[in-house]
Amino acid sequence: MTLDLPTHVASARHDELIATLPADFRFGVATSAYQIEGAVAEDGRTPSIWDTLCRVPGAIDNGDTGDVACDHYHRMPEDVALMRGLGLDTYRFSVAWPRVQPHGRGPANPAGLAFYDRLVDELLGQGITPWLTLYHWDLPQELEDSGGWPVRDTAYRFADYAELVHDRLGDRVAHWTTFNEPWCSAMLGYVEGVHAPGRRNFQDGVAAVHHLHLAHGLAARRLRAAARGPIDLAVTHILGNTTPATDSDLDREAARRADALGFRFYLDPVLRGSYPADLVADLAARGVEIPVRDGDLEIISTPIDTLGVNFYRSFKASGTAEDGSTTTPDGLPVTRGVPVGGLPTTYLDWEVMPDDFADLLTRISRDYPGVPMVITENGAAYDDEPDATGFVADADRTEYLAAHLAAVAEARTRGADVRGYLLWSLLDNFEWAYGYDKRFGIVRVDYDTQARTPKQSALWLRDTITAHRARHA
Ligand code: FCB
Repeated sequence: MTLDLPTHVASARHDELIATLPADFRFGVATSAYQIEGAVAEDGRTPSIWDTLCRVPGAIDNGDTGDVACDHYHRMPEDVALMRGLGLDTYRFSVAWPRVQPHGRGPANPAGLAFYDRLVDELLGQGITPWLTLYHWDLPQELEDSGGWPVRDTAYRFADYAELVHDRLGDRVAHWTTFNEPWCSAMLGYVEGVHAPGRRNFQDGVAAVHHLHLAHGLAARRLRAAARGPIDLAVTHILGNTTPATDSDLDREAARRADALGFRFYLDPVLRGSYPADLVADLAARGVEIPVRDGDLEIISTPIDTLGVNFYRSFKASGTAEDGSTTTPDGLPVTRGVPVGGLPTTYLDWEVMPDDFADLLTRISRDYPGVPMVITENGAAYDDEPDATGFVADADRTEYLAAHLAAVAEARTRGADVRGYLLWSLLDNFEWAYGYDKRFGIVRVDYDTQARTPKQSALWLRDTITAHRARHA
């Protein structure tokens, strides 16, 4: 591991903004179990919905699977040492439900829990704070076979699972995030069918959102009750702005609908205890209902301590389809996300929009005041080209990270209470339906040898953290 190469210098404006971050600002990285662990059939782990989807021909680019991934299950101490070398203070990881409770119900699997036990001890031993996410998309397949997230019972199964993990790790882990991006689980998994479990039904997706919210609330209550010391309870949502493509009433109405379905559907129940009335009306127009029962919203709005925000991009909304029509074949108004335009893009063609990120954080702090935020993911895939030693001079990713960290600092100057930045991701990894070709890591992984090589962006982050500490020493 080489950690002494020169690093990219961010623009002066970025540097100045980053210098305003407070002494206790968190710097870390995020990963998730299925994307890095591998060892899918070891120590009693059963298949998750992602193992199943990876076996469906054509579902994943290049036929890739998470079977081996970054082999983190066997290389965990090396990966923690890598984080320590970069000076990170926080590590966000997820627990694989099918590893620790293989049937999705019933007793824990001690061998599976032991892995996270060792991980937590290793982190604490290296002075790194564990930031645990209970669910990053790997539902035990057996629970999907019983109906998955569209079924209410899955929420209760999740609460049991949460408590079981807490029983084992709660004495050492203070930061508990229930879910990563319910939007992705529900909409990509049950409506668009591009993520596991690959289903396509809008009503099922809407039910899934509600049950994910319910599961969050039930687990938050259980963990709060079980906590033996201070506990920081969070949920992470993927969020973006939706602005109208033009000033027309048609586009403004499309933006309102997109914001209701993509943003307020997630934050309102958790932080305000209600579903937005306009969303409920929009859904009714589509013949779809949120399956709420009495008391659910009270559970869902159980107070949390931190809101996890994942940001990648935003869209503009248009009320006109590509073919010029303004209604769908079912007679519904068209709501179409369109690129903002004129912006650089990443390898995934995602637009790079740090100013929009600052606006988003400002909006959240204005519309949902009182809940501190931590950025639990933000990062970029680029078409990395390693040199002969495996080093990647990723000036593009470095610039992306500097601009987005500066955007966080900028949002703070406007009053947004953002307390940390955990970038996505430590390692190149299994990028879901895109497989291994889309690399988000600040550390390169050579999948033939599993060698890890910090990229220029990793060195930039290390130097940024060092400078931050020196400023506040
Ligand atoms: C987020 C996911 C994460 C990763 C990034 C690129 O939506 O939470 O696992 O795939 O996107």
